[in-house]
Amino acid sequence: MSKNRDKDTNKKYAMSIPKKTLERAAKLHEQLNYHNHRYYVLDDPQIPDIEYDMMLRELQDLEAQYPKLCSPDSPTQRVGAAPLSKFSEVKHEVPMLSLGNVFSEDELNDFDRRCREGLDNDNIEYVAEPKLDGLAISLLYKEGLLIRAATRGDGSTGEDVTANVKTIGAIPLRLSGKNIPDVIEVRGEIYISSDGFEALNARQRDKGEKTFANPRNAAAGSLRLLDSSITAQRPLTMYCYAVGACSDGVLADTHSDVLEQLRAWGLRVSHEHAVVQGAKGCYKYYEKLLERRDKLPYEIDGIVYKVNRFDQQQTLGFVSRAPRWATAHKFPAQEKTTQLLAIDIQVGRTGALTPVARLEPVEVGGVTVTNATLHNQDEIERKDVRVGDTVIVRRAGDVIPEVVGSVTSKRKKGARKFKFPSQCPECASEVVRIEGEAKARCSGGLYCPAQRKESIKHFASRRAMDIEGLGDKLVEQLVDEELISDAADLYTLTAEQLAGMERMGEKSANNLLIALEESKAITLPRFIFSLGIREVGEATARSLANHFGNLEKIMLATSEELEQVPDVGPVVARNIETFDHQSHNRDVIDKLISNGVHWDDIDVTESAEQLLAGKIIVLTGALSMSRGEAKDKLQAMGAKVSGSVSKKTSLVIAGADAGSKLTKANDLGVLVLDETELVKILAGDVSKLA
Ligand code: IVH
Repeated sequence: MSKNRDKDTNKKYAMSIPKKTLERAAKLHEQLNYHNHRYYVLDDPQIPDIEYDMMLRELQDLEAQYPKLCSPDSPTQRVGAAPLSKFSEVKHEVPMLSLGNVFSEDELNDFDRRCREGLDNDNIEYVAEPKLDGLAISLLYKEGLLIRAATRGDGSTGEDVTANVKTIGAIPLRLSGKNIPDVIEVRGEIYISSDGFEALNARQRDKGEKTFANPRNAAAGSLRLLDSSITAQRPLTMYCYAVGACSDGVLADTHSDVLEQLRAWGLRVSHEHAVVQGAKGCYKYYEKLLERRDKLPYEIDGIVYKVNRFDQQQTLGFVSRAPRWATAHKFPAQEKTTQLLAIDIQVGRTGALTPVARLEPVEVGGVTVTNATLHNQDEIERKDVRVGDTVIVRRAGDVIPEVVGSVTSKRKKGARKFKFPSQCPECASEVVRIEGEAKARCSGGLYCPAQRKESIKHFASRRAMDIEGLGDKLVEQLVDEELISDAADLYTLTAEQLAGMERMGEKSANNLLIALEESKAITLPRFIFSLGIREVGEATARSLANHFGNLEKIMLATSEELEQVPDVGPVVARNIETFDHQSHNRDVIDKLISNGVHWDDIDVTESAEQLLAGKIIVLTGALSMSRGEAKDKLQAMGAKVSGSVSKKTSLVIAGADAGSKLTKANDLGVLVLDETELVKILAGDVSKLA
């Protein structure tokens, strides 16, 4: 924010407001804008959220006391305004066009040929950029101030969604920097990131409210709410990709330079775009981004190619409602329709029942999908999905494919509503559903073979006892053939028994026995994790081990004592207690110990809990675990988790698509590790940090 503006503000309101208050408000205004920009636009926060919230609260209080302090670009204006009864119409001065499409390299070559012919130039420079899957928005800035935001509508008339747009942190309420045009209309895409979408749907599911079919619907639904205070709670963000109307001649001559100008004025511009040469350059970019599609933190439905030079754009002009100088190269669709053949119920390790859709195989986003999750009982009811229906299947990123809904117009007569079972399909025990929980569970515990199988699979898995060669299929066979009924029985298996299993030769049987033998020497945290107690992940297991030092103490601990452990809240404490109180669990542990599983107790006076004491760690890029989770766990080990990289930073964890923080870390020579290494650190291996 410019200093001049503060002076103006001061003058305007100087009459009734004490000077100190004015100065403080202006300072808060400036700092909040600065930190907002760091957080939402640069994705590089410098202060903890709580500090931001405290400053915002202070400014809100001052504005409540002196309403005149509240300018239209005050950071307090982002919380939403009074609900509207309807949106008013906005006529776009420059129409908001759509784009033509190409679906193959041949069609891309045709597009390039048309451009070359139209310009009589054989080598054209394009800008290739992600085609974000959200909704188009027009932002009108006058004298730097955001005065109106409008949807695309039919291209010539849209809706005024200014109040909603003001709640979006990534959109500056005032432009900053040099040479800002008097009037500029910036265009771009409002969207919700993949993580934001998952979190939003999880929240909706928890509240028993309608979930959104995909991030685009979630973004569109959130932007078109009449009550902007609800929009304020939705994780909307934006990338800018064009300028509509612009008053004076300050704009650069090429699209790529204009993108840099927009960035310099505080607007959010993707770092993914690239200047490329000719159709070949475009296609190379397409292939590279398609490969990374699933790893991007947001959904894209293709690439947009734009002729870079504006004079060339002008020469090429438009055809009907689309420019001749740009086109969209579409990716394979991430949503398809197919037939729902059956709904099976899967029983997880903790007895949770998950309905799984069995589908007529269909290719979605380049992968053949035959199964998809239906999440839980309520979701099936809310979506009213019935066996035999034509359903919409969605597969995006690393997320498990899901059924997002039925095409009811295609429903066959007599299709019946799905009846959720009241008995476990594996062991016939009663199905129970605790109030407030979305998942129904089998009450059979370890009596249920499905739960037993899952708990043994977990026990053997890489992050638990790491028994190489003991795959899921083998565990199922061993349980089905009644050679084992719990994890401890694994250690009594003989070479003859194993060699009798399907696809098991003498050699692999012997290798497995060796792996079993080797697995007996384990650490206490890993052993606790291997037990598969509900919601006791690796970090919690480690915290428990470090806090209590030995298994006995954990087994005897009361809820209150358990809650003393960082990471352990009332729910986890109850889960641990429930586990400890079941005699069959104690029997299995005793059997494991008598079969030779052993570990060293931990000297709690020299607790590994603080293994990261004094370390400053920065998280950047997309991680598969949530940022919050990673942060909590690192803090539980004594680390300070910071938002920005400096010389003092001990370590940067860089996930997919890490940007400026990674560059800075490399520049400063700060240690950078990936998520695999982070998982090792969380499991107590801090050797890389030594
Ligand atoms: S340029 C005249 N660039 O795609 C060109 N559009 O079918 C106008 N979109 O409604 C659009 N990412 O909502 C452009 N990097 C990008 C885009 C993009 C997504 C959307 C936009 C538009 C639609 C065009």
